[in-house]
Amino acid sequence: MVNVVLKEGVNWVGVVDWNIRDFHGYVTSRGSSYNSYLISDEKIALVDTAKINFCNELIEHISELTSLEKIDYIIVNHVEMDHSSSLPVIAKLAKNAKIIASQRGKDALIEHYGADFNMVETVKTGDELKLGKRTLRFLEAPMLHWPDSMFTYIVEDKILMPNDAFGQHFASSGRFDDEVDTCALMEEASTYYANILMPFAPLIIRKIHEVVQMGIPIDMIAPSHGIIWRKDPSKIINAYADWSSMVAKQKAVVVFDTMWGSTDKMARSIADGITSGGVKVELFKLRATDNTDVVTEILDAKAVVVGSPTLNNQMFPSLGSFLTYITGLKPKGKLWCFFGSFGWGGGAVRDMVEMAKKAGFDVHEPSIEIKYVPDKEDLKKCFNFGQQIAQKIKA
Ligand code: FEO
Repeated sequence: MVNVVLKEGVNWVGVVDWNIRDFHGYVTSRGSSYNSYLISDEKIALVDTAKINFCNELIEHISELTSLEKIDYIIVNHVEMDHSSSLPVIAKLAKNAKIIASQRGKDALIEHYGADFNMVETVKTGDELKLGKRTLRFLEAPMLHWPDSMFTYIVEDKILMPNDAFGQHFASSGRFDDEVDTCALMEEASTYYANILMPFAPLIIRKIHEVVQMGIPIDMIAPSHGIIWRKDPSKIINAYADWSSMVAKQKAVVVFDTMWGSTDKMARSIADGITSGGVKVELFKLRATDNTDVVTEILDAKAVVVGSPTLNNQMFPSLGSFLTYITGLKPKGKLWCFFGSFGWGGGAVRDMVEMAKKAGFDVHEPSIEIKYVPDKEDLKKCFNFGQQIAQKIKA
């Protein structure tokens, strides 16, 4: 029996994706899971499905509890394909089930899977669905993180099913927060927040306030990826409140790439200068570290110090990838500092600064550039540059 009981009549019937390491570019070093939940009352409801690769496993898990023909409702909290690509198959087998989604969810289902999904019934915030002893209450959560996103709340069991929100890419034999290592869990939760939800920070704060104002008690948060929060759901709610408010430590992240070692030497001297100013530093060379991990470290840093050599009058390609990714994630409230090396014409620092300003980042000026190989004097300038950054962080 692989099904897991959240509360009597509420079961996890999802699947664990132990071996996924690339989730549309997000490096998932601990794998993931696609959590589906079966609520068995006078009526039976399935909340979300799973990635199509795991459809048969999902069907097996549901079938341990009920015949699919007995399912009355399939709730689609979110249409992204990791949660919905099994839906066309499941909907055919659960032929008596009504499919429930937000209006934008219905539109997106039709756009993904065709006109067969014209029969989807729509719900909006505050709508309720009686299953018998239990009531499902719906809360639209547009742009957390797609327009269609929706939370489902089981009123009597006090279980919130918020789909992607509060999730983590974390494959585990444990399903609950009290069954896994807390440090690993919070590490994956912060990685997930930084890489998926960071652009929507203002909406997250508003949604948390909305849930608090609704006065709905929460015993458990059951997201659609990773671990279910039952021991202390407030831990992840408080973490989201901090991350969304950009609560930062006295910490700088130095991220760079290098061709012949000049930018590397500069990065180390700048990091030494920051450290000597009493500020913690994390230093990453791109091509040795995934953007996913760098972005996670940036989440609670006050400053980001970015360095590139010039290649063909432009920034190095790995910096282009990093800056494209990070400007899209829209981290707020950080100080951005730039440095680099060049042989003749330069261009890397100019282009990085321009990209950062276009994204609305707070850019520390002047930046620092070195020709060819930094000598002692140049490295002293880099050290001083680091000290200035530390002073700004501590101000
Ligand atoms: Fe886990 Fe937005 O899908």
